[in-house]
Amino acid sequence: MTTIFVDQDLCTRCGHCEVSCPSRALLLNVRPDDKAVLTAGAGTISPGDMEIYLKKRRSVRHFTQDPVPKAKIEQVLDIARYAASGGNGQPVQWLVVHDPKKVHRIAGLTAAWMKTLVNTPHPMSGYVPGLIAAWEAGHGVICRGAPHLLFAHIPEGNPVASTDAIIALTHFDIAAPAFGIGTCWAGFVAMAAVNYEPLQKELGIPAGRKSAYAMMFGHPQYKTYGIPRRKPLEVSWK
Ligand SMILES: Cc1cc2nc3c(=O)[nH]c(=O)nc-3n(C[C@H](O)[C@H](O)[C@H](O)COP(=O)(O)O)c2cc1C
Repeated sequence: MTTIFVDQDLCTRCGHCEVSCPSRALLLNVRPDDKAVLTAGAGTISPGDMEIYLKKRRSVRHFTQDPVPKAKIEQVLDIARYAASGGNGQPVQWLVVHDPKKVHRIAGLTAAWMKTLVNTPHPMSGYVPGLIAAWEAGHGVICRGAPHLLFAHIPEGNPVASTDAIIALTHFDIAAPAFGIGTCWAGFVAMAAVNYEPLQKELGIPAGRKSAYAMMFGHPQYKTYGIPRRKPLEVSWK
């Protein structure tokens, strides 16, 4: 057996040395039991399939009320563990709000946060009264009736972690439809979660960490039969 010494100070434990070893002999001394070997061709997706899979991803705003089993949610979150992160820091942890009653309470607290913006210089101050009125009229404009909410939370004071969180959430967003799960980024909830103490108390994210962003999810109620229009591609080359 050959032992390779690397500069421990520069090594990010990305595992690339191990997975690039054609004889599959190299074994990292970081969690050696976790070594996963790829069989030839595993996970290959044709460019056409990839194109359609990504183009047909949609924000889901109508959900059935049958819960997504926790085991299935963990299966998708497990995939998101393999997302890129700055310096391979893997700072993202998850809070899953599985109970629809708690999702509803979070939506209510988000509406309460919106009320604090009315008649202030906040850029959303002119926009929120309509949302508040709709919420109070019983329309699920904040969490869209989703049974579950996902929060990616990160250490405070880590300058790259918020980007890492968006990348990890994007992995969840993209993986979810393959498991029959529909998602929608929860922008209002995400903003309230970083700005509104009563919601922070409700979430109970561990001390020293903060919510980076949130996503609604559940089983989609409707199918889609097309791909919506987009702005034309704009690229410049040098
Ligand atoms: C950062 C971000 C925040 C969003 N927040 C919300 C939200 O709070 N509520 C909502 O219904 N949709 C939200 N969306 C979904 C967008 O409206 C949606 O992505 C956009 O209309 C394009 O539709 P598509 O995702 O189906 O392609 C958000 C999307 C992003 C990327």
